[in-house]
Amino acid sequence: MTDRPRLTVLGTGYLGMTHAACMASEGFEVLGVDTDAEKVARLNAGEVPIFEPGLEELLQAGLSSGRLAFTTSYEQAAELGDVHFVCVGTPQRRDGHGADLSQVDACVTALAPRLRRPCLIVGKSTVPAGTAAKLAARVAGLAPAGESAEVCWNPEFLREGHGVHDTLSPDRIVIGVTSARAEAVLREVYAPQLEAGIEFFVTDLATAELAKVAANAFLATKISFINAVAEVCDAAGADVTVLADILGADPRIGRAFLRPGLGFGGGCLPKDVRAFLARAGELGAGDALAFLREVDAINLGRRTGMVNLACEAAGGSVAGKSVCVLGAAFKPGSDDVRDSPALDVAQILHGLGAEVTVYDPQAIENARTARPELNYADSVLAAATGADMVLLLTDWPEFATIDPDELAAVTAARTIIDGRYVLDPARWRAAGWHYRASGIPAATTSAQLT
Ligand code: UDX
Repeated sequence: MTDRPRLTVLGTGYLGMTHAACMASEGFEVLGVDTDAEKVARLNAGEVPIFEPGLEELLQAGLSSGRLAFTTSYEQAAELGDVHFVCVGTPQRRDGHGADLSQVDACVTALAPRLRRPCLIVGKSTVPAGTAAKLAARVAGLAPAGESAEVCWNPEFLREGHGVHDTLSPDRIVIGVTSARAEAVLREVYAPQLEAGIEFFVTDLATAELAKVAANAFLATKISFINAVAEVCDAAGADVTVLADILGADPRIGRAFLRPGLGFGGGCLPKDVRAFLARAGELGAGDALAFLREVDAINLGRRTGMVNLACEAAGGSVAGKSVCVLGAAFKPGSDDVRDSPALDVAQILHGLGAEVTVYDPQAIENARTARPELNYADSVLAAATGADMVLLLTDWPEFATIDPDELAAVTAARTIIDGRYVLDPARWRAAGWHYRASGIPAATTSAQLT
C-alpha cells in the first residue's frame, strides 16, 4: 500500500476501461465500477470487450498486480476512493440534439449518499457547460461528507484506437477546479505526466467543460471545410486530394484533420457538435455557433452524396444491384460502428433495393448487431464476389494494397467508388476500372498528367 490517492473509475466504456487500466499501470490502486455485471465479470477475467490496441495487456497486468479490480458496488467504490473519475457515456438525447445526462445523473446519485469522507468527484465525461456546478450542488446536499466531497472536471481527449497512448501521454491535461486542495490532489494523480512536461491547464469548471466540446467542434469544422471544398472541386474539375495537401503544407493550417472523404462519425464528434450547439442555444448564444449546423449538414451530405454517386454509377438506380461495401467502422483502427458513415451508406443502399455485402477488418461483429439486414463477408474478395460495384468507405490501410486485377477477377463489373481517397485513381483506371470519387475529376487526374 502507498499513500498515493486511491482511484475509482465509474463507467467502464472506451474511456473508463482505458483510464482504469492506464492508472493502474502507473502504480495507483484502481477500482472500476459498472452497473453491467456481465461486463464487470469479463473485465475481472482480463477480457477487453472492444478493439483497442495495447489495452488487454495493460488490463491483465493491472489485474495480476492486484492494483486493479472491477465491481458493481458503489458502496465499495465510495469506501475506497479518494478520487472518483466519472467516465459514463453522454450520448445524444433521443428527443433532441442536446446531451443525455441520465448516466451521469444516475452515477452521481448512486455515489454521493455513500461518500463519508473527503474526496474528489472528477468528471471526465463530455458534458454541457454548467453540468459540473449543478452536480457540485447536488453532491453537497446528498453526501454525508458535505462540501468536502468536491466536484471537479477533467475532460478527456483520447482517440479510439490510440486510447492507451493518449491517456498515458496526452497532448495536454485540463482540470477545472474550485479549490487548491482539488488541484493538489490532481497534481498527484497526474504526477507522471507533469514530470514528463505535458502541458497542464488549471481553470474553472465551465472552461474545462467547454474545452472538450470546443476542441471536437473545431476538428469537425476542419473536416467539413475540406469536404465542402471537395464539392467545389467536383464542379470546377479540380482534385481535392492535391488541394488538401497544398493547404496542409501551410503550418498555420496543418495537415491533421484535413483529410477529405465520407466525413466524420463515431461516438464523439457528431454528438458533441450538436450538444455544443444545443447548449449554446440554452445559454442564449446559439447564433454564435450557427455555423456548426452547416458543419453537421455538410458532414451528413457526404453520405447522401456517396449514395448519389453509387446510383449514378449504377445507371440511375441501385435496386437489384450487388454492392460490395469495404469498411463498417467509423474510422480505421477501431471496431466502433456508432454513427459510422460507412454503415449508414450501406444501410441506405440496402433501403434502395441493393444487395449489400460488407467487409471490415475489425467491425463485422458490431456491424452485424447494429444492421443485421445487411450481408457480411470475411474478406475483401469474398465481399466483392459477383459485385456490380465496390464502395470503399472506411480508410483501413489494408484497402490501399488491394490489387485491381485480383479484385476484377471476382467482381461482375469494374466499378469502384473511393469514399476515402485511399486508392490511386491512375492505377485503377489503367487496370480497366471505372474509378469515381467526389472531388476528383472523372476522367483525368493530375496524377495521370504528370
Ligand atoms: C475524437 C477526438 O479526436 C478525440 O480527441 C475525442 O476525445 C473523441 O473524439 P475519435 O472519435 O476516436 O476521437 O475519432 P477521430 O480520430 O477524431 O476521428 C473522427 C472522425 O473523423 C472519424 O470518422 C474519421 O474517419 C473522421 N476524419 C478524421 C476525417 O474524415 N478526416 C480527417 O482528416 C480526420
